Amino acid sequence: MIKISSLHSEAPAKINLGLHILRKRIDGYHDLATVFHRISWADKLTALSAEKLSMTCTDHTLSCGDDNLVMRAAKLLQRTSDVNEGASMHLEKNLPHGAGIGGGSSDAATVLLMLCELWKLNKAAIPLDSLALQLGSDVPFFLHHHTAYAEGRGEELAPMTGYHFPFSLAVIVQPIHISTQWAFRQVDVSEENRADLVEIVASNDLERWRYELVNDFEEPVFSHWPQLREVKSHLLRSGAGFAGLTGSGSGVYGVFESYEDANEAAMEAREDGCSTWCQPSVRP
Ligand code: C5P
Repeated sequence: MIKISSLHSEAPAKINLGLHILRKRIDGYHDLATVFHRISWADKLTALSAEKLSMTCTDHTLSCGDDNLVMRAAKLLQRTSDVNEGASMHLEKNLPHGAGIGGGSSDAATVLLMLCELWKLNKAAIPLDSLALQLGSDVPFFLHHHTAYAEGRGEELAPMTGYHFPFSLAVIVQPIHISTQWAFRQVDVSEENRADLVEIVASNDLERWRYELVNDFEEPVFSHWPQLREVKSHLLRSGAGFAGLTGSGSGVYGVFESYEDANEAAMEAREDGCSTWCQPSVRP
């Protein structure tokens, strides 16, 4: 058997196209409805065969201990699949954390997939979705590739298989770290008269998006950090057909018909000290 010595993989971020918080559950979580859409801004992960599990990271403010989601994912997979090997992992951290773009969740999902390969595990025999959910509500989405409608905690996924996102995108992250738990506590839950997110997103009608695509975190988060409302206004003034908070923030994204406008909006924000990402529209 060929021994795999080293694997490389990207761990891409996501944005939420609308997010409804429907009700509080008895397990303390909330039932939500959202559309997750993967973007090309990504962390990079490397895994090498090793006797023990360990990790290093380019971001020295992050712990590389057992509390890091990379290590938690690796240990969970090792334990549940009775693996005796380890892995030496390296995380190139490009995605800001506490930004609602799912960086840590994507790292965790990517580690599960990479280590299945490194350890030559039969993926079909491993309950990857359930392991992912143990690591975080957004993690199951990152095991798959397509834009998806999500319910439950975020793990009941229905891929929007025929959907194509035809726009350019600018994502702006102010240096503000928002706790998801805090953000959930600020929202008045409601399941009355909620719009159909799949139908609105699939229309690709940015005027409709502006009026109908709602993220319930946006108002409470913008009230607490008015500078994030200003980021949304900046994106709309720069020509975005739609702009909104992703997840519980602090990332705000703009959806543009023109890549030049998206790029300029992102560059201006970068000059103001924000982390930014800009991507052109991709052909179907
Ligand atoms: O699942 P995850 O660890 O990402 O969630 C972080 C926190 O966000 C949870 O402890 C919970 O307070 C809150 N949360 C929630 N309902 C969800 C997802 C997260 O209340 N569907």
